[in-house]
Amino acid sequence: VAAITAPRDLLVTELKAMLYVEQKQADEVLPELATEVSDSDFKQSLREHAEQTKQHVANLERIFELLGEEPKPDKSHAVDGLTAQHDKLAKNIEVPQLRDVFDAGAAAKTEYLEIAAYESLITTAESLGETEIVSLLEENLDDEKQALQQVKKTGEQLARSTATV
Ligand SMILES: [Fe+2]
Ligand SMILES: [Fe+2]
Repeated sequence: VAAITAPRDLLVTELKAMLYVEQKQADEVLPELATEVSDSDFKQSLREHAEQTKQHVANLERIFELLGEEPKPDKSHAVDGLTAQHDKLAKNIEVPQLRDVFDAGAAAKTEYLEIAAYESLITTAESLGETEIVSLLEENLDDEKQALQQVKKTGEQLARSTATV
């Protein structure tokens, strides 16, 4: 990671971590989670969010272009940690419906992480007067908020149906 001495450096550095998060979600995490879950509606909404996530990557790439910076992803330990924690527990859950409940919670954690990350990126971009960048970040943030609401609802429904398992 390069030296950070100005708000713009902070923005670029955090954007690189976010690019890593979104690429990993689009290419690995969401498609794998969609394969893992049993409930067909849950599967479908994960696939839809995986598609949306490709647009998140495209929006971030556009932001790098606007900033005249290379779109180089930088490893995010936060999202790798969430993934590792999910993987560690998921393999021990032997009831598919319970695994779905767990997966809904795991997916929600990632959405919260993305929401917090976009909110602070927006704060920095606003302070720099980068309005076009702010709009692109807000597009992504809105999708994450919707995805969070969706996965929370799914988790609650699945939890109710597994109360007797
Ligand atoms: Fe995203
Ligand atoms: Fe997301």
